[in-house]
Amino acid sequence: MSEIATARRSVVAGVGSALPARRVDNAELIERVDTTDQWIVERTGIRSRYIAGDGETTASLAHDACVKALEHAGIAAAEVDLIVLATATPDQTFPSSATKVQAMLGIPDCIAFDVHAVCTGFLYALTVADSMLRSGSAKTALVIGAETFSRLLDWEDRTTCVLFGDGAGALVLRAEEGTRGILATKLHADGRHNDLLFVDGGPSTTGTVGKLRMKGREVFRHAVVNLADVLNEVLGIAGLTSADVDWVVPHQANVRILDATARKLGLPPEKVVVTVDRHANTSAASVPLALDTAVRDGRIKRGDLIVLEAMGGGFTWGAAALKY
Ligand code: COA
Repeated sequence: MSEIATARRSVVAGVGSALPARRVDNAELIERVDTTDQWIVERTGIRSRYIAGDGETTASLAHDACVKALEHAGIAAAEVDLIVLATATPDQTFPSSATKVQAMLGIPDCIAFDVHAVCTGFLYALTVADSMLRSGSAKTALVIGAETFSRLLDWEDRTTCVLFGDGAGALVLRAEEGTRGILATKLHADGRHNDLLFVDGGPSTTGTVGKLRMKGREVFRHAVVNLADVLNEVLGIAGLTSADVDWVVPHQANVRILDATARKLGLPPEKVVVTVDRHANTSAASVPLALDTAVRDGRIKRGDLIVLEAMGGGFTWGAAALKY
């Protein structure tokens, strides 16, 4: 590994996550659609997911994740001067869910806005927050991925409804001088593919919320290529190679995508954090949820070199390299 230069960086001060109370395993879905536990497990690796109930929303889950992340960081909510929330399922079309979280946390004034890049949303939010922290526009940020995708699902479409779940994850980022923190980020979008994964409604078209539609096999094909490429790109920007990586924390869409991407990069499967079996695909929430899981179970330790990656509708995709 080449030496990491001392600079003003966005350091991960704390992590937190939140899940709805209700866990739904594959057996429950078999009663709703023509599927089997074996098909879901073999094709996706998913065994269960959490589904939001009455009163549980994107903003309420985001708030709960933030409380835990602030506690983990030992930082008071009053110190937060930036909230960036990634979601494709805001509580309302407006105001932003970020401002709802701000109000719930009792922060009288800060910068707060939502970012929308579907499953890549957290990487987009992290990149924006990192730029603002390094430029000096803010000092302490909450970067959140939070979703209630269950409310966009067509519960009669077996090809999509078994794949997704709800949840939230949050990071507290602090601008600090040093060698720890975010080392590099890289984002992409290619709007030519926006008919492969989309919602068939919206305020400016149908006036309805709509339902998620996906051509899964085609998305899969793009995902493995794009994710391996962007991970190589971000490692190159940071002056690292895959041999330097302690942990990959990927977007959790399908365990076969995780395995194929790791193989392409020559990374052993033991270095890949997998939570898709328990959480399913929680879109923008999946990366911070997986990161929080691996920090709290003791796998990820201070000083570890971590790469994050995600790909989603648009298409959008991106990656980040950080020293935890
Ligand atoms: N239960 C049982 N059978 C199912 C099913 C289900 N829940 N969903 C689909 N099938 C059937 C299909 O109808 C198809 O049947 P057919 O061959 O008779 O037409 C068969 O299973 C194979 O479908 P296919 O779509 O080719 O399966 P796949 O191996 O590609 O797996 C996905 C489907 C969706 C799991 C997979 O393509 C995937 O994970 N794609 C990427 C998803 C993703 O990453 N999305 C989010 C990006 S953010």
